[in-house]
Amino acid sequence: MPRAPMIAPSLLSADFSRLADEVARVADADWLHVDVMDAHFVPNLTLGLPVVEAIQAVSPIPLDCHLMIEAPERWAPGYAELGARNVTVHAEACTGDPRAVARDLRAAGALAGLAVKPGTALEDYTEVLREFDTLLVMTVEPGFGGQAFMAEVLPKVRRARELVDTGHLQLFVEVDGGINTDTIEQAAEAGADVFVAGSAVYGADDPARAIAALRTQASAAVARAGTAG
Ligand code: DX5
Ligand code: ZN
Repeated sequence: MPRAPMIAPSLLSADFSRLADEVARVADADWLHVDVMDAHFVPNLTLGLPVVEAIQAVSPIPLDCHLMIEAPERWAPGYAELGARNVTVHAEACTGDPRAVARDLRAAGALAGLAVKPGTALEDYTEVLREFDTLLVMTVEPGFGGQAFMAEVLPKVRRARELVDTGHLQLFVEVDGGINTDTIEQAAEAGADVFVAGSAVYGADDPARAIAALRTQASAAVARAGTAG
């Protein structure tokens, strides 16, 4: 049974003056990806708890909150408490053991995610990740939408898939950054199961069609990888 790919449109590329409408346009997706940036961990600033709470109230699909912020220990549980399905913190931003954040997130009823920037090695976190539900592998430097996919990160996706397939880890492997119709197949073949896409979805005339096209491509690539492997 091949993995069913999940598509998570990133609201970062939406029209922020019409958030409720923009959320409704991607109702066919699996998760709604919300990028929280604090102008410290990354150079950009987006939105925080009050706005995410308003999005949660109108979203027909579960929220996937990607926290690109310092002191995630302090803020992450708030996103779980407001009802987000998955809350991801950056490994590089945690000052203590990331497992403490994972426990808090799970206790608040969310899935716990750990994100790694392109230059961060997976091997330093393989034990820690046993207490996480999602591993977000950044395929661009975090901070901005619309950047080019970094294919050099694919070996890390492959390694993560191997750790899951061999039973060492039990988590979703999510890729974020530069995912579009040109790149999604490589990411799916490497082993990703959740695909964040910002500009590829919100930059399309018809976001629902863009989501369907990405899902079809990812499913075919996962099936090919399954028969090849
Ligand atoms: C970048 C964000 C991404 C971004 C993806 O730091 O984490 O989620 O919105 O945008 P695209 O798909 O345009 O690269
Ligand atoms: Zn993101």
